Amino acid sequence: MILALANQKGGVGKTTVAVNLAASLAERGERVLLVDLDPQANASSGLGVRVSAARSLYAALCGKCSPQDLLVATPYGLDLLPSSVELAGGEVEILALPEREFLLKRTLTDLTERYDFVILDCPPSLGILTVNALCTAQGVIIPLQCEYYALEGLSLLVKTLRRVREGLNPGLFLFGIVLTMYDGRNRLSREVAEEARRHFRWTVFETLIPRTVRLSEAPSHGKPITVYDPGGRAAEAFRRLAEEVRERARQKGR
Ligand SMILES: Nc1ncnc2c1ncn2[C@@H]1O[C@H](COP(=O)(O)OP(=O)(O)OP(=O)(O)O)[C@@H](O)[C@H]1O
Ligand SMILES: [Mg+2]
Repeated sequence: MILALANQKGGVGKTTVAVNLAASLAERGERVLLVDLDPQANASSGLGVRVSAARSLYAALCGKCSPQDLLVATPYGLDLLPSSVELAGGEVEILALPEREFLLKRTLTDLTERYDFVILDCPPSLGILTVNALCTAQGVIIPLQCEYYALEGLSLLVKTLRRVREGLNPGLFLFGIVLTMYDGRNRLSREVAEEARRHFRWTVFETLIPRTVRLSEAPSHGKPITVYDPGGRAAEAFRRLAEEVRERARQKGR
């Protein structure tokens, strides 16, 4: 199952969910590949992988090397295709290529079938890199921050998904919405969660990702939360989310 973590809104928890969901799935014995599609390379550095132009998805997208050459086997049971800032400039080059929407899909073809889950961490835009992710993915997971304005911009994202489905990737579906940075003591947090469930019903995962400083600390140690704070609330939440994701993937026949 290829899943893209997408939301054009910045800082909503895409990378945090991508990294920790990937690690939690790997912990359960799934074969997982995490693809860092963001020039900010947060998923790469968050797993302790040193970022460089030579070992960046950019090089594979440009055909300078094969993606296999870039694979990093992390100590956390998952493989990573790292990114680098060069991917930002690469966007312009990609735009000039024929069938530019399918560059990632073509690049990953031989690789994806080796994994149970391929998780794509998108940048905060609806540009060509995110479109490539949406053309490669089977399902989309939208992280939604439990804060004011959370639902703003969501209709644009949903419209984009529809457009990609109609023209480029007919099989694409909304796999789930995950509520992030949830603080149960905060009324606004509870209200956003309720509103999201009213609008999107079963699509919203039952698991709420709590707001905790441990989750923001973990990347600076280069570790997923399940290793950095294995007994904490956030690790528990990601293990539950991973179970929900496995169950939905089973229902979809993988
Ligand atoms: N549940 C959480 N509790 C506390 N801090 C969090 C939580 N989720 C994310 N953060 C922090 O919030 C910031 C933004 O999160 P993250 O990088 O995952 O978002 P993003 O959507 O990937 O951002 P971007 O759009 O820039 O790629 C980071 O500093 C991260 O550590
Ligand atoms: Mg990110």
